[in-house]
Amino acid sequence: MIEFREVTKEYPNGTKALRGVNLTIAPREFVFVVGSSGAGKSTFLKLLLHEEIPTGGTVRVGRYELNNLSRKQIPHYRRQLGMVFQDFRLIATMNVYDNIAFAMRVVGRRERAIRERVAYLLQLVGLSHKAHSKPSELSGGEQQRVAIARALANNPDLIIADEPTGNIDPRMSRELLDLFVQLNEQGTTIVMVTHAHELVRQYNKRIIILDNGIVTADGGLRQAPTLVPPQPVRRHTTPIPAYNFERRVG
Ligand SMILES: Nc1ncnc2c1ncn2[C@@H]1O[C@H](COP(=O)(O)OP(=O)(O)O)[C@@H](O)[C@H]1O
Ligand SMILES: [Mg+2]
Repeated sequence: MIEFREVTKEYPNGTKALRGVNLTIAPREFVFVVGSSGAGKSTFLKLLLHEEIPTGGTVRVGRYELNNLSRKQIPHYRRQLGMVFQDFRLIATMNVYDNIAFAMRVVGRRERAIRERVAYLLQLVGLSHKAHSKPSELSGGEQQRVAIARALANNPDLIIADEPTGNIDPRMSRELLDLFVQLNEQGTTIVMVTHAHELVRQYNKRIIILDNGIVTADGGLRQAPTLVPPQPVRRHTTPIPAYNFERRVG
């Protein structure tokens, strides 16, 4: 589904954000992309979204060769992606229903189909009772669930999430991840960039570590030792023998 081949990205100021990235992500995979600040994670996502183009190498997503995407193809390409951002990016003046419906209206879906799908999505993310609320009336976790419902509106094969738990509490983060796992089990490919190592450790998924523009690890938790905290030192204290009163008396 996704293929990066020898991908480099050098910004006009000379910064080399990616320096020869090779990776493939198969349909239906669930991948965490982690790495410290400046490692190239956002650049990686921008290339996936075709917001930036590589200075070297090729990026392919599904049947699209992103290096050669025509202007006309770009909206079609982006429509098959579901995007979730750290800062939700909901439209403040629209209620929850319309925020989700909007994504379907722009692609010309009929109101009847929209009504059915939005009702289904609101139920999926547990927000049917908030359909008429404005984003400002929701908690961070609820806003992010609306954003996920919106990302799913046009039934994408691929969800790309950029630090989606960055502004929500740990319990909601777990719920969001559980929802991603559920979607993934139903066939959606998930690529999630995150700093939340604690969360990554709790899910047994593929982890790609970016460091200074290079993939330094790719695999499960075993291949990502820097993500696993050192085991707490076990103290093998010798039990203190109980004092034998009887012997003393004897
Ligand atoms: N538009 C840009 N112009 C110049 N340098 C950039 C630009 N965007 C990012 N960079 C640089 O590229 C490197 C990787 O950045 P980025 O992909 O945002 O990393 P991350 O998301 O992992 O923090 C950093 O050194 C950053 O300063
Ligand atoms: Mg970033």
